[in-house]
Amino acid sequence: MGHIQITPSILNSDFARLGEEVARIPGADWVHVDVMDNHFVPNLTFGPTMVEALARVSPVPLDAHLMIEDADRNAPAYVEAGCGSVTFHVEAAKAPVRLAREIRSAGARASMALKPATPIEPYEDLLPELDMLLIMTVEPGFGGQKFLDLCLPKIRRARAMMDKHGIETWLQVDGGVSLETIERCAEAGADVFVAGSAVYSAEDPDKMVAALREKAQA
Ligand code: DX5
Ligand code: ZN
Repeated sequence: MGHIQITPSILNSDFARLGEEVARIPGADWVHVDVMDNHFVPNLTFGPTMVEALARVSPVPLDAHLMIEDADRNAPAYVEAGCGSVTFHVEAAKAPVRLAREIRSAGARASMALKPATPIEPYEDLLPELDMLLIMTVEPGFGGQKFLDLCLPKIRRARAMMDKHGIETWLQVDGGVSLETIERCAEAGADVFVAGSAVYSAEDPDKMVAALREKAQA
């Protein structure tokens, strides 16, 4: 397992002041940027131009989570935009191995996401191609949803597969992660934690980042 990393999602921050919002979390490891196209998920956020502007001012690297159709064609633009990590959904990719290789060779970390109902087993052999696996713990689309405990066994199985293959792939969880639920995720084997509403509804977001880190390490 890698070291614990906390990755606040700006989805529930103030979009009219994104530059200021990312400046409030200097203690984070990454800033998680939820890109939504209103097709893969029923919500719409921003595209590569905005992400590029954010990458220029963010104190920490950007972790793009692409909830968009046709990932094969659309993901490379987010490496271009300056993201340090680019996550595509396997449900939206026709050739995930080729896409992961393309992201890596363009200079970003390659990551693949699974929705709650998507099993990990068919993708075991693909894990060495990835720098990170994202296991969603809510249905993608919106912040502030309730953590789905039914995803915990999948996190455990994914961690066991990585151990079996002796690979260093990071294991990220996203959705409903808070002071309440982060320990369960860490115990199951996650090491990278996205937290949106928990961080941006806190009075001091950076303090919440530190509190989440402490809980995950306990
Ligand atoms: C949901 C997004 C998440 C979301 C997390 O589709 O992928 O990154 O912002 O928000 P919380 O932590 O509030 O569930
Ligand atoms: Zn996300």
